[in-house]
Amino acid sequence: MSAGSQASRKPARGDLLELGLTEIDERGRTLGRFEEFTVAVRGGVLGSRVRARVLRRRRNGIEAVLDEERVPSPERVPARCTHVASCGGCSFQELAYPAQLAAKERLLTRILAPLAPTRIEPVLACDEPWNYRNKMDFTFGAARWIEPGEPEGAESGFALGLHARGHFQKVLDVKACEIAFPEAVPIVASVRALARELGLGAWDVRARAGLLRHLVLRKGWASGAILADLVTTEEAPERVEPLASALLGRHPELTTLVQHVNPGVAMVASGALARTFRGSGVIEERLGGLTFAISAASFFQTNTPQAEKLVALVRAWADPRPGETVFDLYAGCGVFALALARSAGAARVVGFELVEPAVEDARANAARNSLADVRFVAGDLALTLSPEQLALRSLPRPDVVVVDPPRAGLHARVLESLRLLEPRRIVHVSCNARSAVPDLAALVESGYRLDAVQPVDLFPHTPHLECVFRLERATS
Ligand SMILES: C[S@@+](CC[C@H](N)C(=O)[O-])C[C@H]1O[C@@H](n2cnc3c(N)ncnc32)[C@H](O)[C@@H]1O
Repeated sequence: MSAGSQASRKPARGDLLELGLTEIDERGRTLGRFEEFTVAVRGGVLGSRVRARVLRRRRNGIEAVLDEERVPSPERVPARCTHVASCGGCSFQELAYPAQLAAKERLLTRILAPLAPTRIEPVLACDEPWNYRNKMDFTFGAARWIEPGEPEGAESGFALGLHARGHFQKVLDVKACEIAFPEAVPIVASVRALARELGLGAWDVRARAGLLRHLVLRKGWASGAILADLVTTEEAPERVEPLASALLGRHPELTTLVQHVNPGVAMVASGALARTFRGSGVIEERLGGLTFAISAASFFQTNTPQAEKLVALVRAWADPRPGETVFDLYAGCGVFALALARSAGAARVVGFELVEPAVEDARANAARNSLADVRFVAGDLALTLSPEQLALRSLPRPDVVVVDPPRAGLHARVLESLRLLEPRRIVHVSCNARSAVPDLAALVESGYRLDAVQPVDLFPHTPHLECVFRLERATS
């Protein structure tokens, strides 16, 4: 069904549509119009004209997959990575970086439209948009993704890499990755080869069996230290030790190697610490003029140079007055809280965080940076932020609050506590503008004015965009 011979019926599964791709969405797809329908295409380059095959119809549009490129995009650039067609990681690698940023800006403008912000600042771009990730979480799988062109009957029972695009049970054997820190891929290749030589099995999602689950790699940008974490279903020292010692023999650059055990079915790269084969289990990183110790499980911003810009922005926008109290909600291992304590004239900085090990890291980081006055409260913010709970801990009401919630956004009780606490300023850091919109709308409803919006590109070639919002209390 070409645009020239349009039928009036809504396109059905299997139909071929010809259309121009003009926008992107948050799921890494490109969007175009066919008649009155919005079509989300997997695999096309923004600015191209394509033929796409309909996968499914949705109430508000059509999902399709690229069938053939008809007219290439003027913004098309050669892919750097050999896995571009199959990997779920970088959706926009073949789109020139400035065009990615412009498309992300337009996407953000559409998402924030209900808030009618007076101005959205241009995205803070990455100076180096390649090899920027300081952490990679690779998955072992018992169903290897077979690349097009591989010989019939190729062995497929073991893989170590990333999920294949759109096929979450299949794991692509990663041989290259242009966004990971450069030392990561050779370590992955060694672990894969050694695991096969030693006959170790990969986690089988369907059978819920198999020893090896994840390989997490982390690098300290400033220290150069590299951490590897093997996540397994059981401790199995007789099988894991030979792998660990051979790996350490091949990779002297690995400063620390640990093993975590996760016997559950959830696909999470964490668990209980079982063994430390080399080093301390933590690496050092510098951010905002501070030193952080990061373990395998702690949350830490994954793009260190861009995180510097983010921290500088949060500092500048929070800007507490002498004697004021600042709360850092969803504090992780304390990055914003400590950065604010270092620079601000604030009398008091308090961080709030759910995950106990992250709180321990935050306290240790405070001590490491001689900022022992910064307090950290452990627990669920839905409970710990209420005025009664603050009074129980003898904590004053905050004047300035920084929030950096997970993708789902703020809990209703956190919003309610903020409404009761009435800080004069809120700096909202969001990795998901879509979920931030209702939170921001609720804050505006309760007397705040959204007076600045600054997107920061932490994740080039992917649809993700970090965004910082500043809200001022309009009625006080
Ligand atoms: C996006 S991270 C932000 C971390 C930190 N601001 C940073 O930049 O390193 C979100 C953090 O919120 C924490 N978190 C999630 N749910 C929470 C809750 N209900 N109460 C408190 N903290 C929570 C997570 O453990 C995680 O550390």
